[in-house]
Amino acid sequence: MKPDLLLIEPMMPEVEAQLDAAYQVHRLFEAKDPAALLATIGRSVRAIATGGQHGASNDVLDALLALEIIAINGIGTDAVDLDRARSRGIRVTTTPDVLTDDVADLAIGLILAVSRRICVADRFVRTGNWPRGRLPLSAKVSGKRLGIFGLGHVGRAIARRAEGFGMPIAYSERHPTDVAYRFVPDLVSLADESDFLVVAASGGAATHNLVNRPVFDALGPTGILINIARGTVVDEPALIAALVEGRLGGAGLDGFAHEPEVPPALWGMENVVLQPHQASATVETRRSMADLVLANLAAHFAGRELVTPVV
Ligand code: 8YV
Repeated sequence: MKPDLLLIEPMMPEVEAQLDAAYQVHRLFEAKDPAALLATIGRSVRAIATGGQHGASNDVLDALLALEIIAINGIGTDAVDLDRARSRGIRVTTTPDVLTDDVADLAIGLILAVSRRICVADRFVRTGNWPRGRLPLSAKVSGKRLGIFGLGHVGRAIARRAEGFGMPIAYSERHPTDVAYRFVPDLVSLADESDFLVVAASGGAATHNLVNRPVFDALGPTGILINIARGTVVDEPALIAALVEGRLGGAGLDGFAHEPEVPPALWGMENVVLQPHQASATVETRRSMADLVLANLAAHFAGRELVTPVV
C-alpha cells in the first residue's frame, strides 16, 4: 500500500509523476473544498510535500492526525509552525544549498535590472520608441556599495558575486561571522552606508517588517532595495510610500507580503522591477530541490536517516 501524501502546491510534472508512483497523492491545490478534502483524508495522510512559501498551516496540521513528515520544497520554514511539528513528533525537511546559486544570481540580476533600467529599456525598444528619442542615462553598478541583510548561504553567495563587480560589501546579522566583509550590526546604519541593500534574511516573526521606513530613508533617494527573501521582512506599505514620495530610488522585488497579490501601486513604477517569487525557479534547481524532497520522503518511509532534516 502506498502511503498517503498531501501535495500543497504543484511541482514539476515529472516530479509529480514520481510522487504519484510512490504515494497516494492528494492535491490540496486542486480541491474545490479544501476543508472537505482534509476531513476525508485526515486519518490517512502520513506526509506533506509543500513549498517554502505555502508551508503548511496549523489548520492543515491539526486536520492530519497521522502526519509524520513535512517535506518542504524550499529553504524557508517560516510557513510551518516548527514548535507544533516538534511537539507532535512530525519531522520537517528542506532543500538547502541546491538553490543558493539561483537566488544569488537573481539578486544580482535585479541589481542590474533596476540600476541599468534593463526592463524599461526593453519596453522602450519593443514599443517602437527608439527611433523617436533617447532614454535617460541610468546608474552605474560596478564599484557601488552593497549592504546585505542576512549573511547565510544566500547572502554569502551574493557577496561573492558582488566581489566581481568591485563592490565594497557590508552586512547585518545577529553576530559577526568569519568573513572579510564589514559587519554593521544596525540595519539603518547599513542602509545609510549602502547604495544597494539586499534582503537575504529568513522570514518569520523575528524579521517581520524589519526593513521599514527608517531603513528606506537611510538608503535614500538614489538607494535601491532588492528583496529575494520573504516579502514579510519588508514593510510593504512603507516601501510603497517611500517610492511614491521619492525618498527611495528604486526596488527589485521577488518577494511580497501577500503573494501572489502585488500592490497595484508598484505596477506602474519604472524604477521598480517585479518578479513572481521565482528566485529558485530554474529547471536545474527545481529538479535538484525535488530530488531532495523525494529522497527525504523515501528515507523516512524506509526508516533511514533523513537527508536534510530541520526537525
Ligand atoms: C520556492 C522558497 O519558490 O526556498 C524557499 O523557501 O520560497 C522558494 O525557493 C518555493 O519553495 C517553491 O514553492
